[in-house]
Amino acid sequence: MPFETTQPVIAFIGAGNMAKAIITGLINSGYPAQKIIATNRSEQKLQRLHSSLGISIAETNAQAAQKAEVIILAVKPGVVAEVCSKMADMINHQLILSLAAGITIESIQKHFKTNPSVIRAMPNTPCLISKGTIGIYGDEGVNSDQRSFVESLFENLGKTVWIDCEKQMDIVTALSGSGPAYYFYLTEALIKAGVDLGLDEDICSSLVNQTALGAVAMLNNEDNQSAKELRIAVTSPNGTTAAAIRIFDEHKLTEIIGSAIQSATNRGIEMSKQSE
Ligand SMILES: NC(=O)c1ccc[n+]([C@@H]2O[C@H](COP(=O)([O-])OP(=O)(O)OC[C@H]3O[C@@H](n4cnc5c(N)ncnc54)[C@H](OP(=O)(O)O)[C@@H]3O)[C@@H](O)[C@H]2O)c1
Repeated sequence: MPFETTQPVIAFIGAGNMAKAIITGLINSGYPAQKIIATNRSEQKLQRLHSSLGISIAETNAQAAQKAEVIILAVKPGVVAEVCSKMADMINHQLILSLAAGITIESIQKHFKTNPSVIRAMPNTPCLISKGTIGIYGDEGVNSDQRSFVESLFENLGKTVWIDCEKQMDIVTALSGSGPAYYFYLTEALIKAGVDLGLDEDICSSLVNQTALGAVAMLNNEDNQSAKELRIAVTSPNGTTAAAIRIFDEHKLTEIIGSAIQSATNRGIEMSKQSE
């Protein structure tokens, strides 16, 4: 596998949150810092990464691309086209890994004459603490070494899940890419409910945050019980939990969540179309 054996030079185009998470994971897993190059629009983040992690920095995206075998597009979706067109002459055999939400493989490849292999990955912010979820898609132009390499890249950041069809990346974006924000939203709502009922805010935060940890630990237990089974097991008929869930059902919370995820998916599709 190239990741362990040849350790290709990797260029990060954009040195923001996601790039920093991936670079930190790589360095922590023993990847040589001198094989990592980063660029960024503004200087400060680059200098910080250079001094804290010892990676190389390049002045332009084209210079970084020229030296690398793997190019990671870690810029916001809106600047991917501009970034790719300015690097076009430097791309021939390199593998391109794009983190950009909603930007299709075809719309990236069209900037290059050499039809490079492109893999899309959709990470989420828990990657910053090695608890991420990363949906990955690569088409038939991607070989098994390249797939293994990308998996190794994310090994220290969380769990990877391969997706069979590129269109489904919009659902991945809606579910796990944006997903942490939904849990934060639910957490905010639970804390507010406790405060409204008269409990101290710090106490509410402790109760709600630790409850989330406990619930997730139960979901990941060895018994493999589903969320539904666990919910039914703690919901005594006519008890307190049942009283709350009756209100969720009356307000059709499941349908509301379905519409919200559909809306996020539609937004991803719109962004894909704009990138074409
Ligand atoms: N964060 C997430 O939860 C998440 C989840 C899934 C996917 N993603 C994807 O990951 C990508 C990066 O997201 P992020 O959260 O890391 O964003 P971010 O923190 O804003 O990082 C993007 C970086 O790109 C730099 N940049 C802008 N234009 C550039 C250019 N022309 N050349 C080089 N660098 C340039 C920016 O520089 P400045 O310092 O000048 O702004 C910024 O540091 C996005 O495409 C996003 O869709 C993010």
